[in-house]
Amino acid sequence: MNVAKTKTYSFGSSSREAHDASEFYSRNIHDLDLLSIISHLNTLSTKAQTRIIEDKPSQDWVNSIYCHTAEDMVHIPNESVGLAFTSPPYNVGKDYEDDLDLVEYLNLIANVGAEVYRTLVTGGRYVINIANLGRKPYIPLHSYFYVLHTALGFQPAGEIIWQKGKGMNGSCAWGSWMSAKSPRLRDIHEYLLVFTKEGFSRPDRGESDISKEDFMSGTLSVWNIPPESAKKVGHPAPFPVELAEKVIKLFSYKDDVILDPFCGSGTTCLAANRSGRSYVGYDIVAEYCDLARARIAAESVCLE
Ligand SMILES: C[S@@+](CC[C@H](N)C(=O)[O-])C[C@H]1O[C@@H](n2cnc3c(N)ncnc32)[C@H](O)[C@@H]1O
Repeated sequence: MNVAKTKTYSFGSSSREAHDASEFYSRNIHDLDLLSIISHLNTLSTKAQTRIIEDKPSQDWVNSIYCHTAEDMVHIPNESVGLAFTSPPYNVGKDYEDDLDLVEYLNLIANVGAEVYRTLVTGGRYVINIANLGRKPYIPLHSYFYVLHTALGFQPAGEIIWQKGKGMNGSCAWGSWMSAKSPRLRDIHEYLLVFTKEGFSRPDRGESDISKEDFMSGTLSVWNIPPESAKKVGHPAPFPVELAEKVIKLFSYKDDVILDPFCGSGTTCLAANRSGRSYVGYDIVAEYCDLARARIAAESVCLE
């Protein structure tokens, strides 16, 4: 009997030999009814353009991790954030995820996108790290993200392939071995989708602090950065601090506020703090909010 030895992992990622993906394929994300979300987007984009949270002194709301849904970022005044960088839940069954159908999932992403739009300054950027899912069928999440965020008013400004490994070892989920019967692609990359609000350049002149080498490599569309260990960080799906630092230095000025609406273990906020910028993070899991605060506090002590 052929026994499947591993299954889709709810914490970090697993070995792929004899992989049992039935749990992943039984999830609601495979119920595809994209059309039903499109009509909702017009309402959302109007909401994004008309909601007003009054300005208040930045010390009253920055450098905080809010344990609150990012669908309602009530703490952040309009047009006060220079860059948002995030990795949303992928809805694949990680510890923190509900089993949403695709429409519910994209509604969450759209509600958060509308709030990010409201909080960004003119020319501000929203960079989203996302991976596509599955093989039978392949779920091109990143293409849905383009449809959704452009409908909200964002303008696409480019796409970075985050190459996480060389691929000669690791995943063995190649389908039919050395046969054209059913070969399957093994992903060694994720995407960073770059969106802007109201134009492609910042109308304000701020101070940048990127080195020549980092600018040269950062403006190339493929970034080679190893993934972060879930076990080491204590969160099921952290991205590396190096990735967040690279995004922050390339896309924000020194005095910008950096937002992560799905901040998890606080990697973006940690990188912002390390780069001398203010940050704001949101997560709905209290344990992750505590972890994010602890990671930043530990580093702040070391920096003093
Ligand atoms: C992919 S993880 C982010 C990981 C993060 N980049 C890091 O390095 O640790 C997505 C996070 O979104 C959070 N989340 C899910 N729904 C949310 C919501 N409505 N508002 C805010 N955070 C949410 C989850 O708890 C999870 O920690």
